[in-house]
Amino acid sequence: MNIKNYAIILAAGSGSRMGLETKKQFLLYNGKEIWWHSFEKFYHSPFIHGIILVFPNNEQEFQNATEKAQEYIQENNYSIPVHFVKGGELRQDSVYEALQVVPKDTQYILIHDSARPFFSPTLITNLLENLSEKKKAIIPSLALTDTIKEFAINNKLERIATNTPSRNFLRSVQTPQAFHFNTLFQAHKNLKAENKTFTDDAMLMEEIGEIVYLIDGNPHNHKITTKQDLSLLKPMQETYIPISGYGYDVHKYQGDRPLILGGVEINTDIKITAHSDGDVLTHALMDALISCMADGDIGHYFPDTDKQYENISSLILLDKVLTKWKNSSLTLCHVDLTIICQKPKIAPYVSQIKKNMCRLLQLSESQVNVKATTEEGLGFTGQLQGIKAVALVSAIKKQKAE
Ligand code: CTP
Ligand code: MG
Repeated sequence: MNIKNYAIILAAGSGSRMGLETKKQFLLYNGKEIWWHSFEKFYHSPFIHGIILVFPNNEQEFQNATEKAQEYIQENNYSIPVHFVKGGELRQDSVYEALQVVPKDTQYILIHDSARPFFSPTLITNLLENLSEKKKAIIPSLALTDTIKEFAINNKLERIATNTPSRNFLRSVQTPQAFHFNTLFQAHKNLKAENKTFTDDAMLMEEIGEIVYLIDGNPHNHKITTKQDLSLLKPMQETYIPISGYGYDVHKYQGDRPLILGGVEINTDIKITAHSDGDVLTHALMDALISCMADGDIGHYFPDTDKQYENISSLILLDKVLTKWKNSSLTLCHVDLTIICQKPKIAPYVSQIKKNMCRLLQLSESQVNVKATTEEGLGFTGQLQGIKAVALVSAIKKQKAE
């Protein structure tokens, strides 16, 4: 049987305790609305097959939020079933509305408050791995560190402690909460008519006599509730990840173009066949750079069917690739270039090629290596049928930390 799990993201509340004009779920965190951060986490989970977004009932707000979601989904080229639902007056009403549109063959459902954008994606896995036909409700929770008091209000409107429950048997609970879909839906249907407020869905399961299991939640999975929590929305730290790109190119000898390598013309009788200036080394370098950007290859940038690239200097093409590079989040670290040919002898030109590359790539001499080798008379380079070059580019990519 194909198991299908859905996630419901609740973003239909009024954020009254926050007391801002903008509802808290629409505040920006790292440039994106708070609710979107939860969407991203569910989207990337292999256990989630569809997402329901619940936005405020107000026509204008619902439309704006829906359009935003569609824009983000398109921008990222995400493909997963997404449904948009108008929320109800209470949280439990919003969940009820969302449950109506969950496909009936869904096995497990995760219900999540969009006001908790910081939960760890591994929580999704932990919850779903713990669910079974026997365990129909699993929720994340944390031990309490503070002592808890029950209290009453006296006739002077003061709070009076009435009881101190043992902390050992109290936990604070979080979302996402995970349930057997049919059972939770039935619980909501059964309790719909009751005039009772359920502050989470586990409470409804308890009410119908289902056992709710508590697993460990994340200490940083705070709920944005009051203005004091706004400091949690400070930007995430940036991190850098290493990237490498590989490029390879070949050109045939016995053509009509002079041999140019890394923009340096080689003094030789050997002529090459090419559409552009046939600078095999610069072509390999461009492919390696484009690979770091995960953007295809030079053929897609500069088609050889395009007249404007005929006999064009490859250094001009390199400049176009570097312009794209400058707009990416990549920083170039190191370039390793190898020319492979039997003839001509490349050694006398190596330092000139290296200088040229350092200048164009804005790198120091310790960041660029140029070398040449033969293939000992073997293969097409050995038979003087052509020349090849390989390039390895190392870079770092800036990205937001989770
Ligand atoms: N929520 C909802 N529909 C409601 C009420 C709440 O979808 N009718 C959502 C909120 O958007 C939030 C989550 O349920 O993501 C948890 O609720 P809470 O933190 O209480 O948010 P609000 O109800 O918006 O805030 P407040 O209680 O301060 O008004
Ligand atoms: Mg509320």
